[in-house]
Amino acid sequence: MPAMTVFITFINLLALAPAVLGSPLHTLTNSSQQIKWGPCDFQSVSPLPVECGTLLVPVDYTNTACNETVALSLLRSRAVKAPSKGSILFNFGGPGYGAIHTLDLMTASFHGLTGGQYDLIAFDPRGVEKTLTFSCFDTPVDRKIAGYKYPLLPLNASDVALVDTWANTQALSNICRNRNTTTDRGALVGTAFVARDMMQIVDALGEDGLLRFWGISYGSLLGATVAAMFPDRMDRLVLDGVVNGHNYYHRFDIDVDSLLSADAAFRAILSECIAVGPAKCALATVNSTASELEATLIQLIEDFKANPIAVNTTIINAMFVVQLYYIVIKYPSAIANAAVHINYLLHRRNLTAVVDYYNGLQAGIAMGDDDSLWGIKCGDTIPRATELADVRPEVEHMAKSSEIFGSYLTTLATQCAPWPFEAKERYLGDFKVKTKVPVLFVGNTYDPVTPVASARNMSASFEGSVVLEQRGFGHASTSQSSACTAKVLRAYFANGTLPEAGTVCEVDTPLFKSR
Ligand SMILES: *[C@@H]1O[C@H](CO)[C@@H](O)[C@H](O)[C@H]1NC(C)=O
Ligand SMILES: *[C@@H]1O[C@H](CO)[C@@H](O)[C@H](O)[C@H]1NC(C)=O
Ligand SMILES: *[C@@H]1O[C@H](CO)[C@@H](O)[C@H](O)[C@H]1NC(C)=O
Ligand SMILES: *[C@@H]1O[C@H](CO)[C@@H](O)[C@H](O)[C@H]1NC(C)=O
Ligand SMILES: *[C@@H]1O[C@H](CO)[C@@H](O)[C@H](O)[C@H]1NC(C)=O
Ligand SMILES: *[C@@H]1O[C@H](CO)[C@@H](O)[C@H](O)[C@H]1NC(C)=O
Ligand SMILES: *[C@@H]1O[C@H](CO)[C@@H](O)[C@H](O)[C@H]1NC(C)=O
Ligand SMILES: *[C@@H]1O[C@H](CO)[C@@H](O)[C@H](O)[C@H]1NC(C)=O
Ligand SMILES: *[C@@H]1O[C@H](CO)[C@@H](O)[C@H](O)[C@H]1NC(C)=O
Repeated sequence: MPAMTVFITFINLLALAPAVLGSPLHTLTNSSQQIKWGPCDFQSVSPLPVECGTLLVPVDYTNTACNETVALSLLRSRAVKAPSKGSILFNFGGPGYGAIHTLDLMTASFHGLTGGQYDLIAFDPRGVEKTLTFSCFDTPVDRKIAGYKYPLLPLNASDVALVDTWANTQALSNICRNRNTTTDRGALVGTAFVARDMMQIVDALGEDGLLRFWGISYGSLLGATVAAMFPDRMDRLVLDGVVNGHNYYHRFDIDVDSLLSADAAFRAILSECIAVGPAKCALATVNSTASELEATLIQLIEDFKANPIAVNTTIINAMFVVQLYYIVIKYPSAIANAAVHINYLLHRRNLTAVVDYYNGLQAGIAMGDDDSLWGIKCGDTIPRATELADVRPEVEHMAKSSEIFGSYLTTLATQCAPWPFEAKERYLGDFKVKTKVPVLFVGNTYDPVTPVASARNMSASFEGSVVLEQRGFGHASTSQSSACTAKVLRAYFANGTLPEAGTVCEVDTPLFKSR
């Protein structure tokens, strides 16, 4: 789920539109549009059968004179309980991530969570993977070099970090501007077009003409957008790990409120660590209270800020330590093992193992070989800025939103300010939406990427919607298992039943199991 490249080394990482849609928008004629399903062109890892297909969609929905099409790649896992009640589409986050491999990996669990009576479908959004790939570089090596040449520095790295980062952001934007292949694509890969692609898929499926969708992280923003554009065609929508859509479209970062729960997550994990003790959490040996442990770990950042160490070819510096902490709060299943490695770091012991562990985690969350995160997000962003003074308030807002992570993870707040491309269609509305079926929003209490506050913010303007809070860790509800959340989801997909407002679901698995 969301997102990182060399550009973006860490975070990752949301009535209606008609007023916006000035120009005539076209669709392809219905009759020619059928998805041809067949074997996938990759080795499936799904325990259940899957099939792949493609669907041709208009490249440019705003230009009726252009009949050029592009092929979307899809993957489907049929309902495990016949008869199928229709299809549910998925997006697992980004922007800049494909979805078909994630669904392939998780067919069994998503059938379980949706009741087994639906066909599950993932598609790779335009801009990523094979469809209109948005790339500013000829080779991955060129991209890597640019990342080193024009780094987005942590705010507190030095007193010139912010001004340098601002200049580097502009250079990176200029690299993308100078490419002749990005010129058209920069305008064609926006979220509103992806929303139209989703409705093309719905049409081609020939079911009831309604969209059922589960959108996670950036997928929640995609879902909110398609719902605002086509409210009467929305059946069940689960928006999970919710991005604040007002921030997404009107601010330079993906969601300037992204880090609102990060400190609380970190602190709750440390409390849990002390509570379970050294047999389950390696860091419980360090201090006897959570606040002492927190002070020790904050000091560790400062120590490596003052004295970075090279371990073979990896530098352990303040950013390394903060990113390690951030991974801890983002991936709860990795917490016990992360505690072991942070404990090594504290004692300056076994640093090779720490570095190997960290590099392994980084490799596991790397994005594909493209720049679609920028291409999609920045094209969607409405404002532009030419002066750092115009960006500074956003940087400060983010930096202040998290005492522990803010000054290290806010560099993205500058990313879209000088972007040279604008999506041809963007959602300009206020998300005051009445969908045919009310939306189920889901947010984790301790989500370090998409705080439950953003779910509440979005739910406020979606008529009849409800926020389900999962009292747990990690990014989006799928990061921990909860029989309670699963029951709510199954009832919603089966009957459209929403939980009562204020419902909180506990998670089933403890953070720290025995080591
Ligand atoms: C598209 O197909 C649906 C169902 O197959 C049909 O009801 C509808 O009239 C068709 N629309 C057009 C424009 O052909
Ligand atoms: C696309 O449009 C051009 C010019 O309008 C036309 O010549 C061509 O046949 C069209 N192609 C398709 C596949 O409809
Ligand atoms: C970052 O810089 C600000 C302003 O100079 C300062 O208040 C803050 O304590 C610093 N944060 C860290 C983690 O060094
Ligand atoms: C794009 O740029 C390359 C060189 O970088 C050039 O060979 C090619 O002709 C250009 N294509 C277009 C459509 O301008
Ligand atoms: C917590 O542990 C650190 C590292 O061992 C130590 O330096 C510090 O004094 C401890 N804090 C307290 C209050 O004991
Ligand atoms: C150092 O890194 C290089 C390149 O990644 C690797 O081949 C080598 O084995 C490493 N050396 C040690 C002592 O880990
Ligand atoms: C160093 O780390 C490795 C891998 O995690 C572990 O197997 C080993 O026991 C550690 N050694 C020490 C001295 O802690
Ligand atoms: C939602 O967030 C936006 C952007 O931060 C803010 O302007 C708006 O007032 C918020 N709405 C609610 C209901 O909290
Ligand atoms: C859906 O509603 C029916 C009838 O009220 C009920 O029997 C069934 O258990 C519900 N399904 C779920 C998954 O809650």
